[in-house]
Amino acid sequence: MKDILKQFVEISAPSGREEPIQKAIRASIQPYVDEIRTDSLGNLIAHKKGNGKKLLFDAHMDEIGFVATYIDDHGFVHIEPLGGHNPVNLPFQRICFEYGSKGTIGFESEILSKNGADRKEVSFDTLYVDIGARSKNEALSKIRIGETATYDSPFVDLGNRYMSKAMDDRIACALLVKLIQTLQTHHHDLYFVFATQEEVGLVGSKAASYGIEPDFGIALDVTATGFEDTPKGLKRVPMKLGAGPAIKIQDRSMIANHNLNQWIQTVADQNRIPYQFEVLPFGGTNGGVIQTTKSGVYTTCISIPTRYLHSPSEMVDVMDVQNTLQLVKAIAEKEIVL
Ligand code: CO
Ligand code: ZN
Repeated sequence: MKDILKQFVEISAPSGREEPIQKAIRASIQPYVDEIRTDSLGNLIAHKKGNGKKLLFDAHMDEIGFVATYIDDHGFVHIEPLGGHNPVNLPFQRICFEYGSKGTIGFESEILSKNGADRKEVSFDTLYVDIGARSKNEALSKIRIGETATYDSPFVDLGNRYMSKAMDDRIACALLVKLIQTLQTHHHDLYFVFATQEEVGLVGSKAASYGIEPDFGIALDVTATGFEDTPKGLKRVPMKLGAGPAIKIQDRSMIANHNLNQWIQTVADQNRIPYQFEVLPFGGTNGGVIQTTKSGVYTTCISIPTRYLHSPSEMVDVMDVQNTLQLVKAIAEKEIVL
């Protein structure tokens, strides 16, 4: 699990540029599935045939990133966000562009003298990337307009926890790959969607789900942690690291199917797998678009609690990862009865 997770999180593949991670996932599951294909949005769709109803597992392959918009007269690269970023978190983060150039994010530091050091005016208007170029021409020889970038932040094993960029959502990609590789028996007709462009609006998953027409959908994604987890953490968020996979109750994109959630709790109890519940006052997952496919799909989401979401240092707990794998395995083996 650790090796495959390290491999996946260190691949640079932001929304719209998922091919490198798509190829890595395909190579690791091809021998274990009956059919595998890539659709026109770049989604990787694998099928493990079964006799029962269609059960779809979904994880998104893309990660948040940046796109180069223009290069100024001094050779600084200006960028726009790909997916959700809080600009306040960005100064002095290192990033790596699509064709290999590296740099650090800087910002117009005179905004500090006007407003103190609170950085409130740090925005994509005042940020730029310094790639060490001495001139506009040197920068233009290294970076193309429209070139994407991601955090340059490798995987770290902290003992009981793992830290990296792109845990969102490569942790779920790694879990599904492990599930596919190790599943011995299964009841349902299983589809695995490794979706594109989640971070820019749940784009790939919507199309993939429409084509599959599943009976049941389970999205796997990360979720935030709150006041019980880190000093003065988010007040309205009870999730924490180490308390097991989080069964989604609701977020801004969906109310999860209550009967499916109760069935999942029964499976978790029978297998003595710890779990917690997730009520997230912001954000959404692919579950939101799977649920409304065609005439509707019984859908929920199983979330891996993650600290410091959308930062270069997203952190997960090793026990949570193992327990989430046990839970999705137990779900895939059984017949869903609602
Ligand atoms: Co995300
Ligand atoms: Zn995600």
